[in-house]
Amino acid sequence: MKTDLFIVGGDGDLALRKLYPSLYYLEINNSMPEGMRIIGSARTGQSREEFHAKIKHWLQAGVDKKLYSEEKWQSFADKIFFAQGDATQPEQLQQIGKEFFRDDAVQVIYLSIPPQIFGKVCQSLDTCGLVKESTRLVVEKPLGDSRESFLAINAELARVFSEKQLFRIDHYLGKESVQNLLALRFANDFFEPLWNNKYIDSIQITVTETVGVGNRWAFYNETGATRDMVQNHLLQVLCLMAMEPPSALDADSVRAEKLKVLKSLKPFCKESVFDHTVRGQYVEGEVGGETVPGYLEEESDKYEIDPNSQTETYVAIESEIENWRWSGVPIYLRTGKRLNKKHSEIVIYFKQSHHNIFKGSKGERCQNKLIIQLQPDSGISLHLNNKVQGLDAGIPLRDDILNLDFDDHSEPMKHDAYSRLFFDVFRNDQTLFVSADEVEAAWLWVDQIFSSWEERGQKCEPYVSGTEGPERANMMVNSRGQKWYDGEYCPIDLD
Ligand code: BG6
Repeated sequence: MKTDLFIVGGDGDLALRKLYPSLYYLEINNSMPEGMRIIGSARTGQSREEFHAKIKHWLQAGVDKKLYSEEKWQSFADKIFFAQGDATQPEQLQQIGKEFFRDDAVQVIYLSIPPQIFGKVCQSLDTCGLVKESTRLVVEKPLGDSRESFLAINAELARVFSEKQLFRIDHYLGKESVQNLLALRFANDFFEPLWNNKYIDSIQITVTETVGVGNRWAFYNETGATRDMVQNHLLQVLCLMAMEPPSALDADSVRAEKLKVLKSLKPFCKESVFDHTVRGQYVEGEVGGETVPGYLEEESDKYEIDPNSQTETYVAIESEIENWRWSGVPIYLRTGKRLNKKHSEIVIYFKQSHHNIFKGSKGERCQNKLIIQLQPDSGISLHLNNKVQGLDAGIPLRDDILNLDFDDHSEPMKHDAYSRLFFDVFRNDQTLFVSADEVEAAWLWVDQIFSSWEERGQKCEPYVSGTEGPERANMMVNSRGQKWYDGEYCPIDLD
């Protein structure tokens, strides 16, 4: 079936930096749908050549040189058109539809615009009669900043599109390593009997970054780490890690299981929130050998910095899933900006028997750990106790690592998270997209963290840029006899 991809906000930042490069990957993988057309729209007029030049510029900046060729660019560019118009205005949209939408094609509409105008664009599409049963709508976060605002945005979309037509992107679900969680858990049966509170002691999900908020200050200050990262990316990873086996690998089955996890998250209250959460804000420090400013001193020529801002740039949460499989297992979530390294991983600590027959030997018996590395490299490593070879008395032990490195470091990746998600929208597969019920349940949980912070008067704790975050986050984990995992993973030898 022919496909028209219509990108509203087609010459904006997200489109130029992310969407076209990801679509280019589909081109080089020969994975574009047959008869594909990409129509980028913007209010400001420009010729098709000028539009192509911008896209090419960002493509060359973002895509590995080895993957760029003039020939592929040309075949990609031949599919791209520019449409001038304001998509909130039905007369202008009507004109675009007449000129570019083909009757015998499926229309995929990507809203690369602020959510405040999603409703107007949907209304306008409807007024012009441009929405058919086969039309799909793709949207991305921020989908509100609370359950209430999400429901309002969603109601505007749902007035025109059914749930089956809506593709809500969480780009973490497009990452290879995140999808691999499904393979790891459900294609390797031996994990299943261990995957519960009888054998698992605690779990850590970490997504850290070294960058600060830079010139996104105004946006970020309204958002913060919990809304920006936990409500979506971390909770989605948590769902895939914790959900029950779905009955099939299809959208309804997978999303139903994820929803159950979100609904089983233990809520916080004024009394419990302080002991189980830490919110932090970065102050001046050093990252990668460079001095960087604090959150309240970021350069912001466009916005006034609020010197009293209590927006958290770091959050650590001790959560619990209250169900048969997981109750009693602390699940630690942490994310933050301007930390000492950029990495994302899941660390699973297994329980140890109290009876230790190796007590008299050299070396300590370590807790078994499974580390699922999500980025920058993806792989799995299992920490095992191994005998140190030699003639020492007894059975001296050493913590050894069984490593599985998924990345082919000799070749650049030929696709990214967005190309995978585009690929699935074109195939009409919603498995890796988030349902309205999931987004709502995630907001419900996050909303009560904020209300508990508010009631408790819990403020941000400062942390020095380039460190691991606020000290109290260590204390929170230590109080359960744990430490944040900060070990080596999969040492990569590039030689
Ligand atoms: C985005 C957040 O959703 O994810 C950003 O808005 C964050 O603040 C980014 O930097 C992180 O994504 P990734 O893929 O680099 O881990």
